Amino acid sequence: MAGESHHTGSPSALVRVSHGTVVRGTSTIWSDLNLEVFPGEFTAILGPNGSGKSTLLQVLLGRMPLAGGSAEVIGAAPGARRADIGYLPQHRAITAAERIRAIDIVGLGLTGARWGFRIPGTGTAEARRERAQIHEALDLVGASHYAQRAFGELSGGEQQRILIAQAIVRKPAFLLLDEPLDSLDLPTQASVVALIREVCTHQQIGVLLVAHDVNPLLTALDQVLYIANGHALQGAVDQVITSSQLSALFGMPIEVLTAADGRRVVIGTPDAPHHHGHRHSDGHGHG
Ligand SMILES: Nc1ncnc2c1ncn2[C@@H]1O[C@H](COP(=O)(O)OP(=O)(O)O)[C@@H](O)[C@H]1O
Ligand SMILES: [Mg+2]
Repeated sequence: MAGESHHTGSPSALVRVSHGTVVRGTSTIWSDLNLEVFPGEFTAILGPNGSGKSTLLQVLLGRMPLAGGSAEVIGAAPGARRADIGYLPQHRAITAAERIRAIDIVGLGLTGARWGFRIPGTGTAEARRERAQIHEALDLVGASHYAQRAFGELSGGEQQRILIAQAIVRKPAFLLLDEPLDSLDLPTQASVVALIREVCTHQQIGVLLVAHDVNPLLTALDQVLYIANGHALQGAVDQVITSSQLSALFGMPIEVLTAADGRRVVIGTPDAPHHHGHRHSDGHGHG
């Protein structure tokens, strides 16, 4: 499953960024960033706070221009194929929706783009098709049995499954998830990662997931893109997640240990939480 993505040059990449550079004001956020993502491939974007992970998603959504290099998303300029991209933003303004039923939060993934809060079910063929799509997405994330409950009553993990269902309900070719594991406890992180891996493989969706800490993702990933100190490093887990590669990128000692069962553990990356179950202290630096 992992590390089989040697299709360089193939025309079917969902995302291709070559030598990308982003500048905000007078500062270069990152430069010479290269990234390719293919259907069914699960890629994590990693790096410390403020390194430009969310900025990369903004570039792929067509909301932030490159100052250098090129980017193509689903064979077109970033932004052109927005309807084929599922996106879960980092800071979710969901509190206003706490009393809305979970199923209707998923429905917003279909109807939200058209505004209004049109609940499907008016008997038209289109409404029936939309309703089927919503139930399919709920089924896929294993949320059917709590779909009728108010979103605000659900646990963090249940809410995250509903938000993932919202992001995939339009059957996107490509899924962007900005820190979806944030604020989840370790067992819930593991089950959400397993769900994303399954959706990625089963639906042949390309997934880009932003995270602080690679460890909960290591067994599920195909490839990683690290961003640190304005530089980026992309590759298969085995190639990139080594003590020497990460120490060079971060400019500080990073240890990669291999457990008895072959799993890797990364120790020492800045901003990787040392414990889980609470929000990391991250109250500033976001735009
Ligand atoms: N809207 C904005 N305007 C100006 N600077 C911004 C904006 N958003 C983010 N930045 C800056 O760009 C850098 C990268 O931010 P971001 O992509 O959010 O990092 P990350 O997601 O890796 O934490 C940071 O220095 C941040 O302060
Ligand atoms: Mg971010």
